[in-house]
Amino acid sequence: MKLMNKVVKNVVEKFNDEFSHKAALIVRSPGRVNIIGEHVDYNEGFVLPAAIDKAIYVAVSKRTDRQIHLYSVDFKEKYEVAVADIEPTKTWATYILGVADQLIKRGHNIGGFNLALDGDVPIGAGLSSSAAVECATVFALNNLFELGIDKMEMVRIAQKAEQTFSGVMCGIMDMFASMFGKKDHVIKLDCKTLEYEYKPFVLDGYKIVLLNTNVEHSLSSSAYNERRSQCEQGVALVKAHYAEVNSLRDISMEMLDKYVAPIDTIIYNRCRFVVEEIQRLLTGCVDLENGDIAALGKKMFATHEGLSKLYEVSCKEADWLVDAVKDDTDVLGARMMGGGFGGCTINIVKAAAIDELVEKLSIGYKEKMGLELSAYISNIENGTEVIEFS
Ligand code: GLA
Repeated sequence: MKLMNKVVKNVVEKFNDEFSHKAALIVRSPGRVNIIGEHVDYNEGFVLPAAIDKAIYVAVSKRTDRQIHLYSVDFKEKYEVAVADIEPTKTWATYILGVADQLIKRGHNIGGFNLALDGDVPIGAGLSSSAAVECATVFALNNLFELGIDKMEMVRIAQKAEQTFSGVMCGIMDMFASMFGKKDHVIKLDCKTLEYEYKPFVLDGYKIVLLNTNVEHSLSSSAYNERRSQCEQGVALVKAHYAEVNSLRDISMEMLDKYVAPIDTIIYNRCRFVVEEIQRLLTGCVDLENGDIAALGKKMFATHEGLSKLYEVSCKEADWLVDAVKDDTDVLGARMMGGGFGGCTINIVKAAAIDELVEKLSIGYKEKMGLELSAYISNIENGTEVIEFS
């Protein structure tokens, strides 16, 4: 892709300033949205994400020694470490180092490298900026050191990097969407088999609008891991009666009612949300095939209700934003998106009504939550790719 936007120009220039030579390669890897299918990837369900027009860019070159020198344009910070001494850090560098660590652990021969990083994916907004960094890094290093790794394996490496170096036991959706995104399409991904299908996302006169709560509650990664373990506990309760069951994908509401409800209400609620969400996605895909975005939008509202009341991963700010649009005829669907506890809501809004809606919501949000609202209109873009630059 030929692209010379401001962020690319910036990362190219900063790379030159920092390392006193030209980058060998620039890679772009996007953030993602997810239309429906939340908290189901690690339960082997289906998701419906897409890559967006906000991305992370990395510029890289090989070094002659075995050092890794990193520079974040955003943080105006350097990080240096020897290839042999890589370990997790509490900084932005951990996502890059996690990928290098995975490559080494899998026996790939990487040497020292310089890397500069910049992007316009808002951090902590639930748009998967960390997955975008990991995908950009693995794609760039694969190219730079000619490792011959295919895209699906790169996705797995990026996911493992997140799990090991940032401690969030995430599913595969974010990295998959960033890597495999396709312009104007959503991806129906079966997280059990990793089979996937691109579906045109046609929104006649409507747009995807992301409303950023501008909060990131600090509990998010421990609460995420806790949800994952609660789902596993639910599966174990059913598996005691049905040996063939391996995940919530294999479990029906009848099984939950019989074997989980009498034991633990919280675990039952978590599992119920996931089982319902897997079904909601499947019927939502039929709506999409029929061009019935209004019906799909209704399911998004139902997803939010479940995330908020049963899965308990929403927060008052996201609840307020969804509640504020639920009776608005210009909004077909809205819900919190991603891991939860802050971040963005995703809304399908009539294009002509966006400005007025955002203005109205910004005033109300400030008044009720005491916070600024940020809004982004999102277009669906291609996934991870090398950028040509001159
Ligand atoms: C985060 C995780 C994903 C997924 C979502 C919830 O974004 O990284 O793997 O579980 O939360 O759907």
